[in-house]
Amino acid sequence: MTPQELSAYFPKSLDSAHAAPFFELRTVLVDGELQPWAGPLTEVRSPVCLRGDDGSLTQIVLGGYPTGGEEEADAALTAALGAYADGRGQWPTMTVADRIAGVEEFTRRMCQNRTEVVNYLMWEIGKSLADSEKEFDRTVSYITATIEALKAQDNENSRFVIAEGTIGQIRRTPLGVVLCMGPYNYPLNETFAVLIPALIMGNTVVFKPPRFGVLLFQPLLEAFRAAFPKGVINFVYGKGEIVVPRLLESGKISALALIGSSKVADHLKKVPPKSHRLRSILGLDAKNAAIILEDADLDLAAKECLAGSLSFNGQRCTALKMILVHHWVAEAFLARFNALLANLKLGMPWEKGVQITPLPELAKVAYMTECLEDAKAKGASIVNKDGGVSAGTFFYPAVVFPVKDGMKLYREEQFGPVVPVAPFDDLDTAIDYVITSEHGQQVSIFSSNPERVAMLVDPLVNQVCRVNVNCQCQRGPDVFPFTGRKDSAEGTLSVSDALRSFSVRSMVAIKQTESSKQMLDTIVRDHMSKFINTGFIL
Ligand code: G3H
Repeated sequence: MTPQELSAYFPKSLDSAHAAPFFELRTVLVDGELQPWAGPLTEVRSPVCLRGDDGSLTQIVLGGYPTGGEEEADAALTAALGAYADGRGQWPTMTVADRIAGVEEFTRRMCQNRTEVVNYLMWEIGKSLADSEKEFDRTVSYITATIEALKAQDNENSRFVIAEGTIGQIRRTPLGVVLCMGPYNYPLNETFAVLIPALIMGNTVVFKPPRFGVLLFQPLLEAFRAAFPKGVINFVYGKGEIVVPRLLESGKISALALIGSSKVADHLKKVPPKSHRLRSILGLDAKNAAIILEDADLDLAAKECLAGSLSFNGQRCTALKMILVHHWVAEAFLARFNALLANLKLGMPWEKGVQITPLPELAKVAYMTECLEDAKAKGASIVNKDGGVSAGTFFYPAVVFPVKDGMKLYREEQFGPVVPVAPFDDLDTAIDYVITSEHGQQVSIFSSNPERVAMLVDPLVNQVCRVNVNCQCQRGPDVFPFTGRKDSAEGTLSVSDALRSFSVRSMVAIKQTESSKQMLDTIVRDHMSKFINTGFIL
């Protein structure tokens, strides 16, 4: 395939069934109001290009959003602090049942905007329509599961505990103001997987949308405004390197929820005047490896590795970003893998069954090409037909073999449609790759021998946080703990872990005397406290 043939996948014009949305966001949700914005806008461009008669490719402009700065960061923080009011605000002191009602109301309104949100998601990041719909629905399920988990947790805590002559009631309480930043590859799902638990636990939030995937929140602004008390959720737009340090240097952010790079996280954690006051919940880099043993079912390994490495063009933190294959079966594996790859459907994100779509920016294509050039210069080859052909934002997946130490692809997280494959002779080399990695999220192992699987699982569970046997790496099911070691994560996310991450246990303690018991009885009977109560949420 030539670049010209690849560029022919881009439309020359858009028919009405696939018209691109266009919206210039000129309001900012701060302090319960959609405040007008008269300042400059940052242009939003789609990964989808239009093809000119002369063969030129131009990314479609989808609109713009406010280019906020330090002043806007200050305003968002002031509003969030005001709503938290040192823990005395309406939201942090509300009963859990009432906060759940707020989140339910938000979810109801969110669902009314599914079509619009999904459409922006597809156009802004180039995720296929089917996967954009899945992302939306998975997010709604995550919220529903979060509500159920919180009810169970709160019901569990709706009782007194007596120990050594002391009566206690222990509940989870909010931390303060949470700064939420999600990633561009799952701008809705990963953002809400931290934003919703942060909110429902009674925190107030400053939310900075990712670099790509900003307009998709626009249809939800009114839902946020209507469902939560003023100042509980505040948006801040603008360059991350300007607004985020500004927020953190105030020392008033209690938790940082960042799904991004470890380099950025390291920098940000040092910004607050008292770093111990900042709780960090971080989902960071990963370079998950697949280890394919000589006794593996190669058809299965090829199928799983293909989905693992190239779903959403390889732009998943959980993607398989290195395939280590025993040298006896390397050729047979590559033949199967490449045959499957050749059948992947290329196209525009709205096309039915499409699997490979354009990337969000030209710089991404340039980086993929740079990785290929580096590997080729150091002795590897592109071993699949058409691998690495590019046109504008479109990049045809490349399988690179044999990848070796010293090549960029050996250690760098490519986060895109390039599949590095490295042969190994003995298993220790493969295990050593994982041990010496800076990352520690997950690994996939492929073997049909139980004894060898068991022998691999034991060392690897102490290197990563999920060992997938004969299947690709992934986050779901969302009730499972999602975390990592080394540069891959801090804190654990799952439906129930996230509730813990965004809260701290606090308790009342009282001596086990007759007068104390009478006091507790009165408080509970007359519903005097939202904390001291034995109510049950159904
Ligand atoms: O980008 C990281 C996502 O959390 C991965 O989720 O494994 O379900 O695609 P996933």
